[in-house]
Amino acid sequence: MKGIILAAGKGTRLYPASLPISKILLTVYDKPMIYYPLATLMQAGIRDILIVTNDSDIDNFKKVLGNGSQYGIRLSYKIQMSQRGIADALLVAEEFIAGAPCALVLGDNLFYGISMPQLLKKTIRTNTGATIFGYAVKDPERFGVVEFDENKKAISLEEKPKHPKSNYAVTGLYFYDGHACEYAKTLLPSARGELEITDLNRIYLEQKTLRVERLERGVAWLDTGTHDSMLQAGVFVQAMELNTGRKIACLEEIAYEQGFISASQLLDYLQGFKNNGYYDYIRDIVLQDVQTQ
Ligand code: DAU
Repeated sequence: MKGIILAAGKGTRLYPASLPISKILLTVYDKPMIYYPLATLMQAGIRDILIVTNDSDIDNFKKVLGNGSQYGIRLSYKIQMSQRGIADALLVAEEFIAGAPCALVLGDNLFYGISMPQLLKKTIRTNTGATIFGYAVKDPERFGVVEFDENKKAISLEEKPKHPKSNYAVTGLYFYDGHACEYAKTLLPSARGELEITDLNRIYLEQKTLRVERLERGVAWLDTGTHDSMLQAGVFVQAMELNTGRKIACLEEIAYEQGFISASQLLDYLQGFKNNGYYDYIRDIVLQDVQTQ
């Protein structure tokens, strides 16, 4: 399974905060935003990941994440020349995907929940067409919206409808079989001139190979589309981290938990970071774990 993070947006809705650097590299509490979607893919067990970015930010992303070897994963980068839509990411990534199944996550989507890693792994094991996730929200008109019948089966998908048929938003995490690129090529630009991910998902719906999982209450899906929701996401992460003493989306910790890197590799890497609470936290976790083995 290949992973793709879409991070090519200019983030104009967050100007002037995102004027100097991509919105996806702005800080959400104690780490850059891209850590969160990357953590989601890593928790799914995905190790081969393409970051789709724009030409002015690609070097910044490389500076932050490098080739991924510090996390035991492989990161590559590709430029989306213009914002042609979310489904266009699959065309940009066609060579990378090479007909394999893939997971696409939007760079500004944060998922948090104890059950998430299991849910993601189960999705990869059982997906036969496309799997997407529905999340109950107060303002569905801002999102892709999925409608269910009385048997909880998805029956319609609409992008930002004026009159939503349900309060279930479609989150920015999509799992596809090997046909996603082929179907994406058949899409036509929408009224706003984009290849819509909702149109791609509708192809799977029409073929009866779309599964929509409803995310349960214990899972938080956070949007960072406005200054307020960015700040709220940061406050949420801070509260969870302070209350539980565990970090959210700590890539080194996830890499270690997933078995992507060993304790000695991680401790070696941490030598480069002294007097820093984030890295001290990881060092403590690994040392405790090694001592209890
Ligand atoms: O967050 C979930 C929602 O994401 C879904 O419910 C919608 O169905 C889906 O269309 C999308 O809606 P948004 O209005 O949030 O999409 P937006 O245009 O803000 O793009 C989401 C991210 O993807 C953003 O960080 C910018 C990036 N992006 C977007 C486009 C259109 C790109 O990198 N390239 C693009 O061409």
